[in-house]
Amino acid sequence: MAPLSGPTTGKRALRHLLLLCLLLPCLSQPLPAPSPSPAAAPTFPLSPFNDRLDAAYVALQAWKHAIIEDPKNLTGNWCGPYVCNYTGVFCTAAPDDPHILTVAGVDLNHGRIVGYLPDHIGLLADVALLHLNSNRFHGTLPGSMQHMRLLFELDVSNNLLSGAFPSFLTSLPSLKYLDLRFNNFDGQLPDDVFGRQLSLDALFANNNRFNVTLSSRTLTNSTASVIVLANTELKGCLPPSIGDMADTLVELVLLNTSISSCIPPEIGKLKKLQVLDLSHNELAGELPESIGDMESLEVLNVGYNQLSGVVPESICLLPKLRNLTVTGNYFCGEPVSCLHVPLRDDRMNCIPEWPHQRTHEECIAFEHRPPVHCGADGCILHHPL
Ligand SMILES: *[C@@H]1O[C@H](CO)[C@@H](O)[C@H](O)[C@H]1NC(C)=O
Ligand SMILES: *[C@@H]1O[C@H](CO)[C@@H](O)[C@H](O)[C@H]1NC(C)=O
Ligand SMILES: *[C@@H]1O[C@H](CO)[C@@H](O)[C@H](O)[C@H]1NC(C)=O
Ligand SMILES: *[C@@H]1O[C@H](CO)[C@@H](O)[C@H](O)[C@H]1NC(C)=O
Ligand SMILES: *[C@@H]1O[C@H](CO)[C@@H](O)[C@H](O)[C@H]1NC(C)=O
Ligand SMILES: *[C@@H]1O[C@H](CO)[C@@H](O)[C@H](O)[C@H]1NC(C)=O
Repeated sequence: MAPLSGPTTGKRALRHLLLLCLLLPCLSQPLPAPSPSPAAAPTFPLSPFNDRLDAAYVALQAWKHAIIEDPKNLTGNWCGPYVCNYTGVFCTAAPDDPHILTVAGVDLNHGRIVGYLPDHIGLLADVALLHLNSNRFHGTLPGSMQHMRLLFELDVSNNLLSGAFPSFLTSLPSLKYLDLRFNNFDGQLPDDVFGRQLSLDALFANNNRFNVTLSSRTLTNSTASVIVLANTELKGCLPPSIGDMADTLVELVLLNTSISSCIPPEIGKLKKLQVLDLSHNELAGELPESIGDMESLEVLNVGYNQLSGVVPESICLLPKLRNLTVTGNYFCGEPVSCLHVPLRDDRMNCIPEWPHQRTHEECIAFEHRPPVHCGADGCILHHPL
């Protein structure tokens, strides 16, 4: 399991896992047609041979040849034309033609397989689930995968994939769950990843070498409920348009992303957000009072930044807040109501007569820094007029 899953991500991952567990047993058998009328009823079982399974056979044999180590022997039985019997390959009736069987999913999770993904995998044109997490696939995602028009969940996390963000991903019409975390992808993460054209539900891009420039074109139009870009070098500032994701965003993790910016008050519009992790950055200025409007917030982590001022009482009064981390900043006060938050870490600040705070010298030195002014674009104004 990748470590970077907050409580909700964990639950979500579990949900996906459950979904998969629920789906797979059915997928391994041909599904009956929805309403079998005596006249149109297909004969069962569906024929194990058709053009699509032939194409899948070509794809899977090419893939098997691109595998050089398979410690769990997952592909050991990938022989012969009946691909539906291969380990990790799941067939179901084709969505566009219930009379024929097609490959709907491939799951090689945790296989520790060494190899690459050959161009031929694009022949798996009907796959909805492709789960390859925790293997050692290297190279890139082949462009032929643009033919996977039904691809719904793509999980290639925890592999050795590299190269630029595979641009075809943004034109896959069915993609909802995209998990690229823990690979070596690099280059710009295109703005389209956050666009409405790609209506993702979850985006995990953390722990790659992506280059992301935040702007009102990135954190604005995403329909995702979960966005995790942690341990990635982000440029730019948290834009006020972040509030535009209010209808969908449930979890935002921008931990350790080198963002140096203010936190725009518009963040308070995110009324569905449950988990906000902005820790280990260079955020400056004060925590906006408007965070107190984020009525679903359960976990707030702004630890290890350069934030100052008083922790707004509105935040500590949030009804669902159960984990508040403000450690490693320069806050000079915290209302008593914050003591009621079940898990609270306020160490290493400048709160007078409070335990585990920074030294007096550090706090005095901070007070002598020039005050932070926040611009309308969310950026810190270094030379305010
Ligand atoms: C791998 O699986 C195949 C088919 O199930 C079997 O014939 C073969 O002996 C297995 N190889 C190893 C090394 O276990
Ligand atoms: C698939 O596997 C099942 C169970 O092992 C077997 O009965 C069936 O004959 C196989 N189908 C084909 C087409 O090989
Ligand atoms: C975001 O949405 C707005 C309005 O729907 C649109 O004008 C803009 O081009 C979109 N931006 C991106 C990057 O998709
Ligand atoms: C970020 O992207 C720019 C332009 O695409 C490139 O010049 C730069 O080297 C990249 N930086 C990193 C750290 O990958
Ligand atoms: C932050 O991310 C960098 C890579 O971008 C990594 O080397 C470093 O260990 C991370 N730091 C923390 C505190 O996670
Ligand atoms: C509370 O939040 C901190 C910082 O995000 C995290 O390290 C800790 O595990 C959380 N505790 C619980 C019980 O969720």
